[in-house]
Amino acid sequence: MVLTAACAAVMVMVQGAPPGRSVALMRRGPPPGQAAQALYRFAMSSSVQLRDARPSDCQVISDIYNHYVRTDTCTYTEEVETLGERQEWFAQHGPRHPVIIAEAQGAVVGWGSLSTFRDRSAYRFCTEDSIYLRPEARGQGVGSALLAELIVRARTHGFHTIIAGISAEQAASVALHAKFGFTTVAQLREVGFKFNQWLDVLYMELMLT
Ligand SMILES: CC(C)(COP(=O)(O)OP(=O)(O)OC[C@H]1O[C@@H](n2cnc3c(N)ncnc32)[C@H](O)[C@@H]1OP(=O)(O)O)[C@@H](O)C(=O)NCCC(=O)NCCS
Repeated sequence: MVLTAACAAVMVMVQGAPPGRSVALMRRGPPPGQAAQALYRFAMSSSVQLRDARPSDCQVISDIYNHYVRTDTCTYTEEVETLGERQEWFAQHGPRHPVIIAEAQGAVVGWGSLSTFRDRSAYRFCTEDSIYLRPEARGQGVGSALLAELIVRARTHGFHTIIAGISAEQAASVALHAKFGFTTVAQLREVGFKFNQWLDVLYMELMLT
């Protein structure tokens, strides 16, 4: 396939990609900023691998997450988490609630997970997704790769629906989920307060069956 600089064809050839497979990423024009453009060029000439996370990934999972705890409203956590807390979280995951790692040239660039939506047993056919990327890896299709894989896993394990709880101002996350067919089913007004501002939460939902 010929790619022009503008690369108007947006293709993320990932839907249904089995874990461990190489994922080719091709997106429309590069994001702004020199570093981002360099990474964009790298991604264009490279590929991202998805694999199941291992316990030894907890540190990098936590490092990526804690960046957003400190800097962003995409998580409502305000205190950085400890490695022990992330290890405890990891222990609650497994085949039905997977944690998927995205790697580029051997380096972890992001992760995604399916988690229990609510503990009460009648919620057992519902799961909640989370995806966090290294800041420099955003906007290049890695989130799409991870979400595509999470949807496949959720179907495989018989979930009926996936929920994403998204702070309303998070345009990238809203766009990512909308791209995969999630629709907004609820908006909770001013339920969050971080960085001195009230925050709304959108619940976006994908029906699987
Ligand atoms: C949200 C996040 C996972 C999205 O992953 P990503 O790799 O950046 O997204 P993609 O490149 O796969 O883009 C997915 C879609 O969203 C759109 N998009 C991406 N960034 C966007 C932005 N900043 N504003 C609006 N739309 C955006 C893309 O255009 C794309 O749609 P298209 O393919 O139809 O053009 C990633 O940006 C991230 O880690 N953000 C910080 C953490 C976070 O918010 N996590 C979500 C918590 S549930």
